Amino acid sequence: MRDDATPSEAESTGEAVEAVLDTVARSAPDIRRGLPGRRAAIEAENPSGESQKAADVYADELLCDRLGDVDGVGVYASEERPDPVEVGSGLSVCVDPLDGSSNLEPNAAMGTIVAVYDGALPATGDDLIAAAYVLFGATTTMMVAREGEVTEYVVHPDGEYEVAQADVTIPEEPSVYGFGGRVPHWVDDFESFAREVESDPSMKLRYGGAMIGDVNQVLTYGGIFAYPTLSNAPEGKLRVQFEGYPVGYIVETAGGASSDGAQSLLDVEKDDLHARTPVYVGSEDLVDDLEAALEE
Ligand code: F6P
Repeated sequence: MRDDATPSEAESTGEAVEAVLDTVARSAPDIRRGLPGRRAAIEAENPSGESQKAADVYADELLCDRLGDVDGVGVYASEERPDPVEVGSGLSVCVDPLDGSSNLEPNAAMGTIVAVYDGALPATGDDLIAAAYVLFGATTTMMVAREGEVTEYVVHPDGEYEVAQADVTIPEEPSVYGFGGRVPHWVDDFESFAREVESDPSMKLRYGGAMIGDVNQVLTYGGIFAYPTLSNAPEGKLRVQFEGYPVGYIVETAGGASSDGAQSLLDVEKDDLHARTPVYVGSEDLVDDLEAALEE
């Protein structure tokens, strides 16, 4: 029988998740403070072949050090490094340290994405037990999905944070859309869907070029974000473990839907840590319409 003073496995897992989220929130102001002076590209590429900014590497190293020190974290993996790092025993934490870092030079919004998996990497959508993103906009906020609920926090410059909105739910009436990729590379069925959405007088274009900023618009106002399959990139651009799963989990937990074009993002299975997937997230009706359009 278990000694009552010893935490159960579920309790220890819960504590580790909270410690990961707390570490991310408290690190957000340090990441933000590190951005000036690190806006330029360096002579290096990430494992997906994208040019890295000094800030990508800075945020990755900072999060690796801090999350690696959290009790109950076994593995740290990041979009910015080829292989996972063994840091202890327990959960696997996947991070996109600076999502949308090409927005650094024009000084537009970007984010940090975190996925917490109770399983070995590459994980499945079923392994996901919490996901969060920090949005570096005019203010710093953190959206957290765990235990069936989404909470938005505002993060202060000293790392303290407080609830800005409990039980975040995607609004019923959609009003915004943002679609990535070059339009000439959209496949015909997606282009037809996009034209339908554009022709709806209640819908406005909101696209800023950093997924986290664009997804946050959709969670705030209702609508749809897509980084679709492209004629020259059938798997789109975004990565399953670092972007697709956590964003799908957050939007679905907020009452929206996610898709890779045919199924929930959480049902996508890829055996490469850096594998990509098309990403469609937002209001359920629009994601259903999108899937129907792509099926034709
Ligand atoms: O790498 C991810 C990302 O920066 C996303 O945040 C964004 O949606 C996308 O790439 C934009 O990519 P591009 O400008 O190459 O279409």
